[in-house]
Amino acid sequence: MRDKLRVGFVGTGGIARGQHIPAWMARTDAEVVAICDIDPDAAAQGAKLTEVDKDRVYEDYDKMLEEEDLDVVDVCTPNCVHMPPTVAALEAGCHVFVEKPVATSADEVRKMIAARDRSKKLLCVTQNMRFSDEAIAAKRFVDEGGIGDPYWAKAEYLRARGVPAAEIAERSAAAMRRAKTVSRPPTQKRPALNTKGRMRLTSDICPAIQPKGDVSTKTRV
Ligand SMILES: NC(=O)c1ccc[n+]([C@@H]2O[C@H](COP(=O)([O-])OP(=O)(O)OC[C@H]3O[C@@H](n4cnc5c(N)ncnc54)[C@H](O)[C@@H]3O)[C@@H](O)[C@H]2O)c1
Repeated sequence: MRDKLRVGFVGTGGIARGQHIPAWMARTDAEVVAICDIDPDAAAQGAKLTEVDKDRVYEDYDKMLEEEDLDVVDVCTPNCVHMPPTVAALEAGCHVFVEKPVATSADEVRKMIAARDRSKKLLCVTQNMRFSDEAIAAKRFVDEGGIGDPYWAKAEYLRARGVPAAEIAERSAAAMRRAKTVSRPPTQKRPALNTKGRMRLTSDICPAIQPKGDVSTKTRV
């Protein structure tokens, strides 16, 4: 067994650079050895942070999986680009850590689970809030019988910067247009805001997300 897990990244955007890369870099039992992003800017910033060699910065994750000897692949792409690299990495014999939400449809999730079962590797979804002190304390309290058998729970989450639906949806669609490795193209090529300046649904961009009921004024990411 190796001293250090060899980690490769697919997607070196905001969450990868802000959280995942620093977290991996802080470990003594792992090293980031390769990265992949279809956006040259994001790739360059990821390369600077991880200090990986130029020839280990990829645009195509299939190529990275083929050329690199990786133990773990950390998938930090937009939601509608979670399933393909996850399945590819599991099939290449790597453990996978994929950002949340796990995917954009139950069918994609089933494909990911099937690939995990075939590969016998670990597939972990970044449910980071479960590891907060508050969540751990609440879980322990419940497990110890502090409130008997819970039958209802309410959770709230505050977001400091508003709901980033338009920005993420647009970047996601742009990423998918550029991604050579994504087999399902976006259905339309209109901007994220319609002519009245109202938010268009992400389902227009990520076909797997289908709205239910009247959601004309809601944002979905
Ligand atoms: N756990 C959390 O609290 C948390 C917080 C923020 C974001 N996220 C999740 O992280 C994921 C990424 O979010 P982000 O804010 O970093 O987005 P982002 O747009 O900043 O980064 C995504 C990166 O993926 C790249 N990409 C897209 N398709 C690709 C492909 N086929 N191959 C390689 N690279 C590709 C893009 O070029 C981009 O650089 C989302 O699923 C989001 O829901 C989770």
